[in-house]
Amino acid sequence: MATLERLADLLDRDAEVLGSRLDDITAWAAEYAPGSVRRVIDIGAGTGTGTLALARRFDAADLVAIDRWPTMVERVRAAGAAHGFDGRLRVVEADLDAGWPAELGGDGTGSVDVAWASASLHEVADPDRLLRDVRAALAPGGVLVVVEMDSLPRFLPDSVGNGLEDRCHATLAGDGWNSFPDWREHLDRAGFDVADQRSFEVVRPATESNRRYARLNVERMRSALADRLSEEDRRILDDLLTDDHPDSVLLRDDLTVRIGRIGWVARA
Ligand SMILES: C[S@@+](CC[C@H](N)C(=O)[O-])C[C@H]1O[C@@H](n2cnc3c(N)ncnc32)[C@H](O)[C@@H]1O
Repeated sequence: MATLERLADLLDRDAEVLGSRLDDITAWAAEYAPGSVRRVIDIGAGTGTGTLALARRFDAADLVAIDRWPTMVERVRAAGAAHGFDGRLRVVEADLDAGWPAELGGDGTGSVDVAWASASLHEVADPDRLLRDVRAALAPGGVLVVVEMDSLPRFLPDSVGNGLEDRCHATLAGDGWNSFPDWREHLDRAGFDVADQRSFEVVRPATESNRRYARLNVERMRSALADRLSEEDRRILDDLLTDDHPDSVLLRDDLTVRIGRIGWVARA
């Protein structure tokens, strides 16, 4: 559970750093959505970052946020209430690997105008089955928006450990971090018509909250790589994570936060 809480915190920080860029992504989605959006679903909602952005964008819509973990479900519910969206937000705890929740409709009689799957499609056991279920749940003219991280977030200048971040990312890529297929092929196979694909970049300076975000990510990287690091790389990462060390992530001015998202909009 502690791990899930940490993931939830990280998702909230992601949201903070993405900031208004998330609204750019929902604005892009809205270009393809039906004129009147009455029902939106957030598939694998996490802490509800996307749910809130969708609620802001589609202000006449009812929203359904789905996640498998109670920790996430509670966070979405709390976030919805804190932003005054609880009247039009329903939160469903469901494991989509076990099947499509009947209450969301399907069999071609769906009522979903916008389905949103951000950083979640690559986590389900059978994305092709899920895509077919989502397609069947869409209303006529409805769209599915799939969003993924374009790359692992970057923070450190190359001078730190002579490309330390690149080396860490290469090992993590070997572990399958941030790995997802080209969803276009899967969308085609499930019968969708891909209307657009777009990349969204975010570059942010070293503010206090961005340094804390960097620290969370560097710590996550350090713990995942553990004993696979060279002694020198381990020492550098430990210095970066020692908050009163002069090289600490929290004290550096030479950090730049770089994150990217890639999205696909598909019609049924
Ligand atoms: C990386 S998080 C992304 C959360 C959120 N969409 C965002 O962009 O911040 C992926 C989420 O998908 C959920 N998820 C993964 N597999 C799932 C499944 N089989 N059924 C329901 N939710 C699932 C996870 O619990 C997690 O909250």
